[in-house]
Amino acid sequence: MILTALPPGFHDDPWPHYAAAREAGAVRQPDGSVLLARHADLSAIYRDVAGYRSDKREVFAPKYGDAPLYAHHTTSLVFNDPPLHTRVRRVLTGALTPRALGRLRPRLEALVDGLLDRLDEEADLIEGFAAAIPVEVIGDLLDVPRDERGPLRGWSLAILGALEPMLTPAQAAAGNAAVTEFLAYLRDLVALRRAAPGDPEVDVLTRLIAGGELSEAELLHNCIFILNAGHETTTNLIGNALWLLDRHPAARAACAGDGRAVEAAVEEVLRMESPNQFGNRQAVRDCVWHGVEVAAGTDLHLCIGAANRDGAVWDDADAVRLDRGAPRHLAFAGGPHVCVGLTLARMEGRLAVERFLARFPSYAVTGTRRGARVRFRGFERLEARLG
Ligand code: HEM
Repeated sequence: MILTALPPGFHDDPWPHYAAAREAGAVRQPDGSVLLARHADLSAIYRDVAGYRSDKREVFAPKYGDAPLYAHHTTSLVFNDPPLHTRVRRVLTGALTPRALGRLRPRLEALVDGLLDRLDEEADLIEGFAAAIPVEVIGDLLDVPRDERGPLRGWSLAILGALEPMLTPAQAAAGNAAVTEFLAYLRDLVALRRAAPGDPEVDVLTRLIAGGELSEAELLHNCIFILNAGHETTTNLIGNALWLLDRHPAARAACAGDGRAVEAAVEEVLRMESPNQFGNRQAVRDCVWHGVEVAAGTDLHLCIGAANRDGAVWDDADAVRLDRGAPRHLAFAGGPHVCVGLTLARMEGRLAVERFLARFPSYAVTGTRRGARVRFRGFERLEARLG
């Protein structure tokens, strides 16, 4: 599987290509980077932060130059290694307390119900539902006033768009402008919160400020990162769930009125249709993977989508089953960089699917348009008749 020369139809059916990559173990790419696809290999790499780094300064310096996008991505915890990563992560996880997340739940329920009320009989479930949830949730998380949330989604898409491997001047300009505007907005929001702190037990931004452990730049860039990290991924989780359940009537029927079955179904969606299909790391020292020599400094593509259908871990890995027990998938990665927002993402996914099924038990998907990016798996449009 060569990432720069994917065959036609790849996005609809990547699974045979993933299976071949798993079989091979390691696939050298034309630019010298190496793709890995087995569950055991990815698990080991995610845990070994000394052997495989996340730091992208070397990669991003020529890509972005001395620009706001460079400052943003190199300050986000996901593209850092210890000690900066450890410090920022401790503050973030400390702020996402169960009480802070608990406070979001009633707002999330009201948001989901309001969106369901407004759906027409024929609806695009991405625009009208899945994509409308995560930005509002992160807005609630940071207590961004409702009437100021308009630009958040556009900023987030522009910043993420600038992560594409081939960056056009227009993408770079839009991404840099988005970082600059987003920073200016957050600077004001943080100043207001410093002047009038919220309850640190439940207010995430107040907690991030109050600890005093983050510099102003770390605080602002990581607030931007939280929005970006939780936005498209969670949209795709919800969209992929509604698509998969439409194709698997038995699983859908089992979910009706059964919260535990919905939980299991959401885990199967995370496993089988992982919103984030690829992670990446850089080898710190020379190593060999399945006969392929990997020199220090080599970029590694970690195919989460392939690892999550590895027959060495799951029986009948391509089948939807609601009795698989404790999740072992890598949809949220693993090790010290494991997703900080996984509890929130699961809460959003479960609640959205449960309430959607309760309201529209006989919905039918009538048309789809997939996003054509290899890293993010999901739909741009998911048309349905709600019944
Ligand atoms: C279904 C939804 C989501 C998926 C599939 C997902 C997936 C991931 C993955 C694979 C990583 C690891 C990246 C790496 O190190 O290579 C990650 C990291 C992260 N995610 Fe999520 N994520 C989701 C939702 C969220 C949400 C809602 C938030 C916000 C609260 C969030 C915040 C983060 C943060 C802050 C990191 C960086 C952690 C670190 O580097 O230590 N994610 N996520």
